[in-house]
Amino acid sequence: MERLYVDLGKNSYDIVFADSYINKLEEYISSGGPNIIVTDSNFFGIYRDVLESKLAKLNLHTYIIPAGEDSKSISTIVGIINYMLDNRFSRSSRVIALGGGVVGDVAGFAASIYMRGLAFYQVPTTLLSQVDSSVGGKTGINFPQGKNVVGSFYQPKEVLIAPEFLRTLGKRELTSGIGEIIKYGLIYDHTFFLEIKEALHDIYAINIAALKAVIRRCCEIKANLVEKDERDEGLRKILNLGHTFGHAIETITKYQSIAHGEAVLLGILYESQLAEGLGLIDKEYHAEIAETISRTNISTGILPLSISSLVDVMSIDKKNSAGKISFILPVDRGRAREVLLTKEEVLSILVRQGVI
Ligand SMILES: NC(=O)c1ccc[n+]([C@@H]2O[C@H](COP(=O)([O-])OP(=O)(O)OC[C@H]3O[C@@H](n4cnc5c(N)ncnc54)[C@H](O)[C@@H]3O)[C@@H](O)[C@H]2O)c1
Repeated sequence: MERLYVDLGKNSYDIVFADSYINKLEEYISSGGPNIIVTDSNFFGIYRDVLESKLAKLNLHTYIIPAGEDSKSISTIVGIINYMLDNRFSRSSRVIALGGGVVGDVAGFAASIYMRGLAFYQVPTTLLSQVDSSVGGKTGINFPQGKNVVGSFYQPKEVLIAPEFLRTLGKRELTSGIGEIIKYGLIYDHTFFLEIKEALHDIYAINIAALKAVIRRCCEIKANLVEKDERDEGLRKILNLGHTFGHAIETITKYQSIAHGEAVLLGILYESQLAEGLGLIDKEYHAEIAETISRTNISTGILPLSISSLVDVMSIDKKNSAGKISFILPVDRGRAREVLLTKEEVLSILVRQGVI
């Protein structure tokens, strides 16, 4: 079994790449206890038979949250905590997140606060969660005032990546994962960016070998950034490329019509316009980014959004500083950095670029 070590001192852990997930799940569940798998309704609908036939003998607790971003809420956390209290979960219990980024963020947060912290295992089942959200220890929930505004830094004991889960994933969820994958190429590794362009066909065709190579490279990059900046105080911020516009798009569409990674893809399109408008990247590179994203068939035309209302939402983002909006912009091939802009500057650049 291939492993990747995330070196965080006493919080270190392995990312394990497995062809089959059942043995590993059994291993997580069979020590300590009582233990719980948190998953969501869509995933459970597809994998129920496998889970019940293979894991039933282990006296496992399964907690199912409704699928979707709305489950990243305080009421979901209260539900999980009540369930664990009612079933006498103790400090030797384990929490296993089996699902996409929503399940990972919610289960991780519940694990981090129950009796001041239970052992937590990430078993990501979407492309987005395998390349991004399961690694790095950020957990969190949304409030009406904003996304991920409450949460914790809480590293898992292990991350289990089984690309075979992706066989049941729909095309939109694959595109969503590709949003974060392209981000890694842009912020860290231009050669990888060029490889992704060529690998898109294989990703959509669920070519497991190609997926494994791409997922592994993304995990290496994320692990590297997290090792240098576990608590998001400096370098790790570059992971937010595409996310300033992306979060605003999610907020305005109320997390309903667009998936997180799709919003990130659109965010990268807008933010590349800003980068070109500011002279940080040349026209050719901007065109190359836009052309790669167009291969996913996503386009800014899918959203009936007013840019100025997006910019209004960004003006209250928690990452802002001194009244300016924080963007992570590409500054060269495979490199990105934070740029602070006023609302007026953003709008005037986008007018000059012909976006509005
Ligand atoms: N903690 C972090 O560092 C971090 C990083 C990036 C994103 N996120 C968060 O992750 C969330 C998005 O994650 P996501 O894209 O995985 O969304 P998600 O968890 O909502 O999953 C998307 C959909 O795929 C379904 N699904 C899951 N696994 C499946 C499978 N194997 N086959 C078929 N369907 C399956 C789910 O039921 C759901 O309907 C957002 O809330 C975002 O904020 C967190």
